[in-house]
Amino acid sequence: GNKTFTMIKPDAVADGHTGAIIKMIEEAGFRIVALKKTVLTPERAGQFYEVHKERGFYNDLCKYMSSGAIVPMILEKDNAVADFRKLIGATNPANADEGTIRKLFAKSIEANAIHGSDSDENAEIEGNFFFARTEKF
Ligand code: GTP
Ligand code: MG
Repeated sequence: GNKTFTMIKPDAVADGHTGAIIKMIEEAGFRIVALKKTVLTPERAGQFYEVHKERGFYNDLCKYMSSGAIVPMILEKDNAVADFRKLIGATNPANADEGTIRKLFAKSIEANAIHGSDSDENAEIEGNFFFARTEKF
């Protein structure tokens, strides 16, 4: 697959890291297909993270993801899903490699600055969750 979906999470947007993160994404060779700034209600955050609804951190995650503006994007590159997860680093910033987006900007395992889809199928579903056909080009 050549597309992935990402969103810059509320902590990183609030701290003014949107521009630095987008610069890293473009310098890593990803093309921005779609981009906006928006906000999730707790209910919509719950839909987005439905796969995690049995996990102990689900309610906190929905609260956090609706606590401020986010910047969702669809990105294009060869091997997009795997290469993007390499660029963002491990879920827990304590385990993230040097030079990754999470190593640079994440505050905790929850407020970890950025999302990256984990499969081509989820990239398609997640992109369609935020963007209409006319917003992708
Ligand atoms: P995403 O790219 O955001 O999907 O992260 P991921 O694929 O690296 O992690 P995962 O899908 O397992 O978890 C989704 C999100 O839930 C994480 O990015 C964190 O924001 C949050 N999360 C994951 N594990 C924990 C945890 O143990 N505690 C808390 N509070 N939040 C967690
Ligand atoms: Mg995930």
